[in-house]
Amino acid sequence: MEDSFSPYFYFLDRELYCEKTPIKKIAKKFGTPVYIYSKKAILDKIKEYKKAFKDYPTLICYAAKANSNLSILKIFQEEGLGLDIVSGGELYRGLKAGFSPEKIVYAGVGKTDRELMDAINAGILSFNVESLMELDVLDQLSEKAGKKANISIRVNPDVNPKTHPYISTGLKKSKFGIDMEDALKAYEIASKKKNLNIVGIHCHIGSQIMDVSPYKEAVEKVVQLVFKLKKEGIELKHIDIGGGLGIKYRPEDRPPHPEELAKVVIPYVKETGLQLLIEPGRSLVGESGALVSQVLFLKDKGDKHFIIIDSGMNDLLRPAVYQAYHHILPVEKKNEKVTADIVGPICETGDFFALDREIDNLKRGDYLAVMSAGAYGFSMSSNYNTRPRAAEVLVDGENFYLIRERESYDYILQPEINEKIQGEVK
Ligand code: LLP
Repeated sequence: MEDSFSPYFYFLDRELYCEKTPIKKIAKKFGTPVYIYSKKAILDKIKEYKKAFKDYPTLICYAAKANSNLSILKIFQEEGLGLDIVSGGELYRGLKAGFSPEKIVYAGVGKTDRELMDAINAGILSFNVESLMELDVLDQLSEKAGKKANISIRVNPDVNPKTHPYISTGLKKSKFGIDMEDALKAYEIASKKKNLNIVGIHCHIGSQIMDVSPYKEAVEKVVQLVFKLKKEGIELKHIDIGGGLGIKYRPEDRPPHPEELAKVVIPYVKETGLQLLIEPGRSLVGESGALVSQVLFLKDKGDKHFIIIDSGMNDLLRPAVYQAYHHILPVEKKNEKVTADIVGPICETGDFFALDREIDNLKRGDYLAVMSAGAYGFSMSSNYNTRPRAAEVLVDGENFYLIRERESYDYILQPEINEKIQGEVK
């Protein structure tokens, strides 16, 4: 497997496989664009995390936002993980996938009353509260529900995770969490609320983090605060350090192993004796997935060669929003290479997957795979340009299963043409 991108996606006789399944077989059966995930890649990552944290009481709460397909959630649920959610929709999905509410944590700066109420009634492990106003509202709603809500304060440790600014969340100027200096006061306020039950402290510093030192900085600050709270008589049960570990997007990337994260975090948390919670998303599913597309057209403009494919920024938004690099592989290798812009069919210049990329000389009808698309791929996709969202397929050895069918035009239009519609179209 001399030029395999990962153990789960590799070439055999010049043909790209996912596990033991030729990708072409899946593309032919279900059409393109199609997201393809390796079940083994996910299970192996879960194992890595479990092993790394096995010597300290840790609950791994998978961050649903990375990939919230029900069948994918089910894998994590069956492996005994918890769930990190950020919306009522994710709570709904999580419960449908069978997660116990006692393993669900809920962050987010803007939770609606209905979302809060649903989670109060479900009895989740922790609301990760991001403002004083949220504390008030949560207290009132809990009273109404006749229940007590478990809360943690999401603190903002003001550390730089050294990643893309749009996915840095622990800096003081960002909208997330409550500043460290205001956290003590927030806990004091919370401790006086009759319908709130303080259970923990939460932080999340950012995503696609390629060096674990910012975690050390953050957890050090959080643990200091935990001791301060203890002095004030406020006892916690857990410390939640969020998610954020990076993955391999470029062949030369060497993201930190979960062991490295455990090594910097556990010694600090251990001093407190509290349970540890972590919320990895991308690092559990990112490398397990590829977005497979078909070449529609080729065109040359001046000295530029364009490969136009049937996926667009509606299917995978990351290159357009974060200028993200995704490695691209042919599904069948060619003898020649070209340098090309690989672009989608959408009416925007930002609709590209790669610029000036050296790639096999693909022809109309050939397939290609955009790698490391298992996280924030389908979950950020949309119907822009009235494009049906892609199918999703889970590969398990030589078997593969459709886990989300391709959307149809009727499905997209249904909310605009059903019997409830009171406007022009009936
Ligand atoms: N916990 C919280 C509170 C979060 O906000 C996030 C991600 C995670 C956990 C999971 O982080 P991860 O382990 O996946 O890095 N759409 C962007 C990433 C946004 C991340 C948002 N929060 C991208 O495609 O790069």
